[in-house]
Amino acid sequence: MDTKIAIVKNIDQDLKFIKEAANEIREGKTVVFPTETVYGLGADALNEEAVKAIFIAKGRPQDNPLIVHVASKDISGLVEEVPDIAQNMIDRFWPGPLTIILKKKDIIPNVTSANLSSIGIRMPDNEIALKLIELSNTPIAGPSANISGRPSPTEVERCVEDLSGKVDYIIGGERSKVGVESTIVDCTVNPPVILRPGGITLEMLRQLDDRIELDSAIMEKPTGDFKPKAPGMKYKHYSPKAKVKIVSGDREKTIEKINELVHNYIDDGKKVGILSSDENRNRYKAGEIIVIGSVSKLEDVAQNLFESLRSFDDMGVDIILSEAFEEKGVGIAVMNRLKKAAGYDILSIC
Ligand code: TXA
Ligand code: MG
Repeated sequence: MDTKIAIVKNIDQDLKFIKEAANEIREGKTVVFPTETVYGLGADALNEEAVKAIFIAKGRPQDNPLIVHVASKDISGLVEEVPDIAQNMIDRFWPGPLTIILKKKDIIPNVTSANLSSIGIRMPDNEIALKLIELSNTPIAGPSANISGRPSPTEVERCVEDLSGKVDYIIGGERSKVGVESTIVDCTVNPPVILRPGGITLEMLRQLDDRIELDSAIMEKPTGDFKPKAPGMKYKHYSPKAKVKIVSGDREKTIEKINELVHNYIDDGKKVGILSSDENRNRYKAGEIIVIGSVSKLEDVAQNLFESLRSFDDMGVDIILSEAFEEKGVGIAVMNRLKKAAGYDILSIC
């Protein structure tokens, strides 16, 4: 299939591209679009055939429901009810990186929700995305715009790499500023539960209801009979081609251990990448180093995470050794993605 690619630099001057992309959505086609979290692969959420095309383009398992993107805080046409706590979240955090799970109305086809009676909805904080949804005049279903299993794309070039020839239109904008996918909070239960950590943190949500918790599956390695409430969390995710190993513990010991491992891998003829904090960048003796951000600014670490993993693949490294980051604020989301990328291969040094 021919994929049209257009980059929007200035929303007013380049409005024609967004109009063109919106026409595609209305005609049941697939459109890649930027959001503040990661790029999305969109189609009309209310059109069954269009939604099926998303699953095909990504190679996504059919039992993994899609998030529905809206351009208005009024979602009464899409869900059965909006409990007070969900309304408070919408008022406080939309537009923004927060997906709210609610009971869906029948207008949302079962392919979109993967046969669940609930649906995840969010209003992205990105001008191009909002304009696209508005002009399409329909909610847009959209998973991340990567081939299933690969790290989510935060730059349009990565979407082109994964999906050119598989989608109808790619509309590019800036690099995604949050860098990890939205926080998902299940509001079909009371108190609500966080199913996936993201840019809207546990601490922020607790300001609205201090009973909100993280689902137990977020921090732990899933066991054999694990059935996550967000079906997507059971799949291997965020994987670069290289193997990833996390080294966690005291700063000096971590540096020492990583240097030792790099040495051993190089001796074995392997090409090694190191995912380093700003603070430790000059402490490594060998290997390909990518600096991901400062330990005191985990927002930067989140923004750079997926792009760093993809860059290591471009370099052709066999193994990536990563420092661990503090599990607070957006650091919970960073470590959740990193642990999945590593298949939970974590070396803890005391
Ligand atoms: O930031 C984001 O959320 C990005 C951008 C494009 O908006 N989208 C994204 O979509 O990350 P995706 O498809 O890669 O991840 C959606 C996750 C999956 O883990 C899925 O299982 C979960 O949301 N999900 C969707 N609907 C759900 C529902 N009704 N109940 C539980 N989990 C749901
Ligand atoms: Mg995804």
